[in-house]
Amino acid sequence: MNVFYKMSYRVGFHPWEDLAHHKPFADALMGLFEREERGKEPPYGKALDLGCGQATWGVPLARRGWQVTGVDNVPKAVARAQEHIREAGVDIRAVVGDVTHDLESAVGSGYDLVVDTGTFHGLNPEQRLAMGREVTAITSRNATLILDCFAPRNRGPLPRGCTRGDVEEAFPDWVITDVVDADTDPDPVAKAFKFSEVFYRLSRAPQPADR
Ligand SMILES: C[S@@+](CC[C@H](N)C(=O)[O-])C[C@H]1O[C@@H](n2cnc3c(N)ncnc32)[C@H](O)[C@@H]1O
Repeated sequence: MNVFYKMSYRVGFHPWEDLAHHKPFADALMGLFEREERGKEPPYGKALDLGCGQATWGVPLARRGWQVTGVDNVPKAVARAQEHIREAGVDIRAVVGDVTHDLESAVGSGYDLVVDTGTFHGLNPEQRLAMGREVTAITSRNATLILDCFAPRNRGPLPRGCTRGDVEEAFPDWVITDVVDADTDPDPVAKAFKFSEVFYRLSRAPQPADR
């Protein structure tokens, strides 16, 4: 997938960023953010926009009152994020780093919220396990993780997607508390490729009601 993303950013092909303007998807994700903020006052804590691309979702997170870091292993993506952050006038640190290797050196630790819109489901099985270990190492003990994933299917160069079992295997110290339909009104491309996208919400310290 790394070659795919490098090429995508080089030629300016990044359709995943359009989801910021696709209300059914954006509303579902904002609803999940809102859940983490309920009953609290900003600043809400440290959030990691993982595989951030241009920080499509890091920017709204920062606007909501999270202290955001974005990380991506494609330098061109991080350069785009830095430009987007400057234009948006928000305070976000965007760095180059690999979510499967030595993530802590790139982003530090103590994260309360990790948001991944589209990275995990494109990794191979070994990389997924590595990402699980790396994310667990940089999060606080009551952290929340939101993973946006396609249903599993061969889509050529596009992400292969993953099952609930794949998520559970990569994050054995976490509990899936919710599976939320990510796109209640898919566009024609999403329909053609049968993305069937969901958000998995995982907690490291689930409440009794979550189980
Ligand atoms: C589908 S894009 C989503 C980008 C962004 N989250 C968004 O929603 O606009 C997936 C992103 O994950 C990044 N990525 C893939 N593998 C990665 C890895 N091992 N470490 C860090 N970033 C990675 C890609 O470079 C790409 O920017």
